[in-house]
Amino acid sequence: MVWTSHPVKRLAGAIRAPGDKSCSHRALIFGGLAEGESRFTGLLEGDDVLRTGQAMQAMGATVTRTGPGAWEVTGVGAKGLSSPKNVLDFGNSGTGSRLLMGVMAGYDLTASLTGDASLCSRPMNRVLNPLRQMGLKDTAGPDGKLPFTLTGSKSLKAIRYAPPQASAQVKSAVLLAGLNAEGETVVVEAKATRDHTERMLQGFGAALSFKTEPGGAHEIGLKGGQRLYGLEAAIPGDPSSAAFLIAAGILSPQGDVTVENVMSNPTRSGFYDAVDLMGAGLGAEERGEAAGERLIDLHAGYAGLKGIAVPERLVASMIDEFPILAVLAAFANGETRVTGAEELRVKESDRIGAVVAMLRVNGVEVEETEDGFTVQGCGGPPPGGGLVETRHDHRIAMSALVMGTASQNPVSVDDISMIDTSYPEFMSHMATLGADIRG
Ligand code: S3P
Repeated sequence: MVWTSHPVKRLAGAIRAPGDKSCSHRALIFGGLAEGESRFTGLLEGDDVLRTGQAMQAMGATVTRTGPGAWEVTGVGAKGLSSPKNVLDFGNSGTGSRLLMGVMAGYDLTASLTGDASLCSRPMNRVLNPLRQMGLKDTAGPDGKLPFTLTGSKSLKAIRYAPPQASAQVKSAVLLAGLNAEGETVVVEAKATRDHTERMLQGFGAALSFKTEPGGAHEIGLKGGQRLYGLEAAIPGDPSSAAFLIAAGILSPQGDVTVENVMSNPTRSGFYDAVDLMGAGLGAEERGEAAGERLIDLHAGYAGLKGIAVPERLVASMIDEFPILAVLAAFANGETRVTGAEELRVKESDRIGAVVAMLRVNGVEVEETEDGFTVQGCGGPPPGGGLVETRHDHRIAMSALVMGTASQNPVSVDDISMIDTSYPEFMSHMATLGADIRG
């Protein structure tokens, strides 16, 4: 069903950021592996995360919702995970499926995995290849696409692995397999990716080692045979979801938007550094800590933006924010150039193609390149008036709807249902700020 976002003069108000998606997946997975009980508050109840909880439950953990955002998990501990009776359907979720492939590799179990059309078209060999080296067996064909069946092993071998792509999911899958492997598993990252697996595993009682090589690459080591222990934690707010509201505040002619409780972690802050370079001048106030992460309240008001060449050092730490950055670039003065972002080709959609199509259909000049795109900013509100093809991609849908709040003409999207995968309250939060989005 088509939904349309109509331009409005003012977006204003304060919204508490939804729980971080990456941390929510990990909370349910690590809690499900731990000895004893874990209790979480502020957990993201998006479809992706719920499916991770269902998968952990199907493999022996007890996962219970005790209130809005409040979840209790009783882990399997030393007994370990067991084979699920039914196929595990991960829906749209790359994180849930890939992290759990790593986990399953180290247990004596067989599991069949599937997902939606988007997930079944995404590359899984990036995870399967290192796990095969460790001892995982699988039925995936040469293209490594879901659906397939995995058989784990109790006698996994530790490896030293340097992922060819900058991917926190690959790093995490290998480290999680390493939890049950013989010896020390080491992942060598050329570029740092989000570090939630490392931080949260330590919170659950695991010991990891860290080393930075002279060339800047860094190593994460984890010895096999370690136990995790249940804990209580509040999930920090999601900087990737907050980015949509912050962008809406920047674009709104009388914008005055505060997003509370946002996780401030250098491996996730690239978008905020980029909008700073564009001249947005965001406000930030300390808000304490949750689960070992710094929290801030962010404030955005209207700002005339200038185009930038996005520094490649920021790419990994803003990998999910390029669709909304592209919207800001459309309003900016001058050209915005994105390079070194080829990983966008294998997200929930081919996000380079989807972003380029989203801008073009709304009258914005944009050039597609192999590893990015170049936007010619309109120096103010772009024409709008387009119907955006969302391609099963929640971040394309939310970006287009934000664009419509401040374009010359309304912007429509062909579907909003997949927004529930990462940000179920998006529509109500936008309405609270004063957006006019109608189905
Ligand atoms: C995630 C890692 C990133 C990111 C995804 C969440 C995670 O994917 O795009 O939304 O929680 O580890 P890649 O590892 O494929 O870069």
